[in-house]
Amino acid sequence: MASRNKVMRAIRVFEFGGPDVLKLQKDIPVPEPEENQKGDRVFTTKTVTGGYAEYTIAHEHAVFPLHESLDFGQGASIGIPYFTAFRALIHSAQAKPGESVLIHGASGGVGIAACQIARAYGLKVLGTAGTEQGRKVVLKNGAHKVFNHREPDYVDKIKEYVGENGVNVIIEMLSNINLHNDLQLLSYRGRVIIVGSRGPIEINPRDTMKKETSIIGVSLYSSPKDDFLQSLAALLAGIETGWLQPVVGPSYPLEHAAQAHEDIIKSQGAYGKMILLMN
Ligand SMILES: NC(=O)c1ccc[n+]([C@@H]2O[C@H](COP(=O)([O-])OP(=O)(O)OC[C@H]3O[C@@H](n4cnc5c(N)ncnc54)[C@H](OP(=O)(O)O)[C@@H]3O)[C@@H](O)[C@H]2O)c1
Repeated sequence: MASRNKVMRAIRVFEFGGPDVLKLQKDIPVPEPEENQKGDRVFTTKTVTGGYAEYTIAHEHAVFPLHESLDFGQGASIGIPYFTAFRALIHSAQAKPGESVLIHGASGGVGIAACQIARAYGLKVLGTAGTEQGRKVVLKNGAHKVFNHREPDYVDKIKEYVGENGVNVIIEMLSNINLHNDLQLLSYRGRVIIVGSRGPIEINPRDTMKKETSIIGVSLYSSPKDDFLQSLAALLAGIETGWLQPVVGPSYPLEHAAQAHEDIIKSQGAYGKMILLMN
């Protein structure tokens, strides 16, 4: 890293609370990499010193070369979304080519990644989004069919589309709203994968019995090392061959990080991965 003894801008958090606890500081010493932490053009899945900053440190095993075809905004959109989507689809759901998947919340960071991966792996891909712009992005990134999750009867439309057999896999971004409906949409031995949830929901466990369905939680940072390396191999191949194309959504300057937090919770409609820009 070239800029030792310099200072940088970074967001720091000194107390628990809402987005207003994210404080911009302009005099943070640029972190110095130790052995096996390096300063190349890269993307990372996890930092040591924090990602809301102009400079950061990450361990060598969490850092990968950023392909020349991708810019830094796209690099920032790979780590958590693609590794989470791959884990959900391939490790947790064990989705197979020819199966169908409903990506319930397909217009955001994880959803678009899931659309691209599912399509590349030969699945029939259904997605949902809440806005016209979001639905266009979902269709452009691998979905065969898209539904509007803000329409009151959209679950009936999905049921009609998939027919009696139902859908093999559901990747769920808002489980506290959708889990009950998901259980009605699944096929025999169908799997719903819990990626996102913002609260509790009441379900009837009997809904899993007749069709022997499963509800499986996923947590990116619980991945065993071997699984992580599998994801890495698949995703780097996706970058090389071109099916992995991160879509950058709303972009905020670093000093507007708190606003970004407000907006992602009260989102008007996603259309890619939200990112922070350093200049
Ligand atoms: N388990 C893990 O390891 C892990 C890892 C990463 C992220 N997550 C979680 O996964 C969730 C998605 O992350 P993200 O980065 O993709 O967030 P994001 O970019 O903010 O996207 C949120 C998605 O949820 C959709 N959504 C809104 N209302 C919905 C509804 N009623 N039904 C279905 N979908 C709805 C949004 O669609 P519209 O905006 O088009 O309405 C959008 O596609 C978040 O809760 C995040 O915290 C979990």
